[in-house]
Amino acid sequence: MDIRKAYLNFFASKGHEIVLSSPLVPSDASLLFTNAGMVPFKSIFTGEIPCDKSKRKTSCQTCIRAGGKHNDLDNVGYTARHHTFFEMLGNFSFGDYFKEEAIAYAWEFVSEVLELPKERLYVSVHENDDEAFKLWQKHIQKDRIYRFGDKDNFWQMGDTGPCGPCSEIFYDQGEEHFHSAQDYMGGDGDRFLEIWNLVFMQYERSADGRLSALPKPSIDTGMGLERVSAIKEGKLSNFDSSLFMPIIDEIARLCHKSYVYESGVSFRVIADHIRSSVFLLAQGINFDKEGRGYVLRRILRRALRHGYLLGFKEPFMHGLVEVVCMLMGGHYTYLNEKKDWVKEQIYLEEERFLSTIEKGIEIFNEELLNTQKVFSGEVAFKLYDTYGFPLDLTEDMLKEKNLSVDEAKFEALMHEQKTRAKASWKGSGDKAVNGEFKNLLEKWGENCFIGYDKTECESKILGLLDENFKEVSSLGNTGWVMLDNTPFYATSGGQSADGGVIADREVLDTQKFFGLNLSLVKAGKELKVNDRVYAKIDKEKREQTARHHSATHLLHHALREILGTQVSQAGSLVESNKLRFDFTHNKALSKEELQSIEKRVNEMIINSSEAVLENMSLEDAKKSGAIALFNEKYQDNVRVLTLGESKELCGGTHVKNTAQIGSFYITKESGVSAGVRRIEAVVSKAALEFVKNQFEELSKIKEELKSNDILSTVKKLKNEISHLKNELKNSHKSELDHENIHGVKVCVKRVDSGDIKAMIDEFKNRFSKAAILLIQAKEDKITLAAGVKDAPLKAGVWIKEIAQILGGNGGGRDDFASAGGKYIQKIDEALKQALEFVKKAL
Ligand code: SER
Repeated sequence: MDIRKAYLNFFASKGHEIVLSSPLVPSDASLLFTNAGMVPFKSIFTGEIPCDKSKRKTSCQTCIRAGGKHNDLDNVGYTARHHTFFEMLGNFSFGDYFKEEAIAYAWEFVSEVLELPKERLYVSVHENDDEAFKLWQKHIQKDRIYRFGDKDNFWQMGDTGPCGPCSEIFYDQGEEHFHSAQDYMGGDGDRFLEIWNLVFMQYERSADGRLSALPKPSIDTGMGLERVSAIKEGKLSNFDSSLFMPIIDEIARLCHKSYVYESGVSFRVIADHIRSSVFLLAQGINFDKEGRGYVLRRILRRALRHGYLLGFKEPFMHGLVEVVCMLMGGHYTYLNEKKDWVKEQIYLEEERFLSTIEKGIEIFNEELLNTQKVFSGEVAFKLYDTYGFPLDLTEDMLKEKNLSVDEAKFEALMHEQKTRAKASWKGSGDKAVNGEFKNLLEKWGENCFIGYDKTECESKILGLLDENFKEVSSLGNTGWVMLDNTPFYATSGGQSADGGVIADREVLDTQKFFGLNLSLVKAGKELKVNDRVYAKIDKEKREQTARHHSATHLLHHALREILGTQVSQAGSLVESNKLRFDFTHNKALSKEELQSIEKRVNEMIINSSEAVLENMSLEDAKKSGAIALFNEKYQDNVRVLTLGESKELCGGTHVKNTAQIGSFYITKESGVSAGVRRIEAVVSKAALEFVKNQFEELSKIKEELKSNDILSTVKKLKNEISHLKNELKNSHKSELDHENIHGVKVCVKRVDSGDIKAMIDEFKNRFSKAAILLIQAKEDKITLAAGVKDAPLKAGVWIKEIAQILGGNGGGRDDFASAGGKYIQKIDEALKQALEFVKKAL
């Protein structure tokens, strides 16, 4: 049975719109990852954004629970149910149906579609929720309904956000398999398995912990696909189900060991972690030193350590990407597109870690011998800092021995080091400000951006805010203006805001805050709410920005054509005089690749293709092959821009014809982070300026060289320099005259210029037996060095003796030693003694 499909179709038949899974990186800054099916809809629950016409939706959402409030990383492998990555089936009502239907639908699905035996089903409700208790009695006997407190039956997304009492459906896996004291309804045992959580969304928790009522009671349900699959297949562990066993079998094949459930922790860890790694990478998150990329690193390294326990000493996890794509690529087709790139990234990370893991484990084991209960924070830090062992990996290793780590010491050292910003996902710091905007949005409504067609217009001022976002009724100082119709494009999608004037006051910036398009105007003539004013953008700046923006689309297309379709956009910046485009790619681009990309973009410009803009549904847009960014959240209705051969979803402003871009020059290529490259480029007037500057520089160089043929002049100069360098070297050689004492070439000399160490090396290279001591005085400092080759004296002893005469000290090896000194007046004496010393020795 395809449970995913059955679920979505069932709820579609109940009037729900099927919504595609949103990205694992939510647009909500208070969350590290999408950790539940409701996350993409959070703003609809809270009323921040209105719900579109379908008030019932259903989805199968990919989720990650590693880091943040719901963090399951440490448990994965040790239990039958925990995962870092999982799929959550859910049905949602946004102020439409509530408890009664939610309960009825859930019951119908489990009993009639999944056909789970009713005698194995139990439910729980919140202890105060009499309504739910009563509603359930329509479907299930009273004695199968349990009441639990907040700990079990109150759900919230994170420290803040929508929440409410919930009701859960449990499946009894059978007394025959579970007999621990905890195997009762509500106990910690595995016998009664929670399969579905129905949340009656009623509140929003704010940062100070208070609950306020949501605008409309809503429904959020979540059913773990992995659990239900296991139950339907009669398996007692998710890992035994068909979602995981092919991965586990592949691990067993690669390590030539068989999987036994009881001792199979490492197999399970790897099987789980490869899924999250593949999904995160395919969605554009890459291994990094901080933030989400660091969570990905922790996940993969935890798996690699378990691989090490299974005997893998070489990269192996990249070899599992294939089986994950085989299992999941049918539904999540982007996995197949990114497969090769994902494999490569995993391979590179494996190589990075495997080069240090052995040494790290050795250090860990050594320290273990000194550990009674608490493992040293210093060693944990060393493992982290030098050997790349994330703290939770060390903790994981200690957990197996029932030990803990001195976390305070670790943190102190981490703090001391202060070399990198720690990932801090404490939510959007400007929560209070966000709340204000929400209120303003309610009061003013959204304004309309008319700037796609118009560059100036008369508008009414709907509201004013001072520089600190405090609402005011009149504004003379710098502050924010909200117009009913605005031609000003607010910074978004990488494109910088328009410049211009509103009522003769210069517009410094335009930003979008929760649907409010606000322009920051410089201090000037007083503005009042309801004033009618004239707004006009800087047309020239807009046009130049549009040219750069359109060029990023062509560049994106050319990159995918030349480097491969695994390339995806990882960020961009578009201004009126430059563009920057970040994309996923492993290595620096070669000169030839850059030339072909530049050439290809210019070809598309010269082809003068008309730009075609269409509005369509997100689904149609994706079907049409338009490129959408993974980490971007789109509305249901999107703009699709076709520009020559490129087709992308985009809300920005663009040229009408590619020819308007003029010409395109790449000015720089560089690396941003592991696996992400950056191209900087210029078009149109900025391109002219760039080329003009290059020419000017060239002509200055020609003038300086007094030659039109720069290349051959530079070649000639280089030859001359190397010739002179050689001469200089040889001149030292001849300076170093020597005498022959019993077959050893001896040189004791004062040389006040040149590198005496290099001279000594050269001298020693010239002869098979040599003893040389050179003294150099510069200003009031003396440096002396000695070299000995195959002769019966030690340079270290020799130099020490002579340095003492010069009031200094020093020493070194038998074949080379150096020292300092200060008595310049004693140099002659020192030279004499040095020669005496060597003569005696020989
Ligand atoms: N949000 C709830 C959960 O994650 C129900 O979907 O359990």
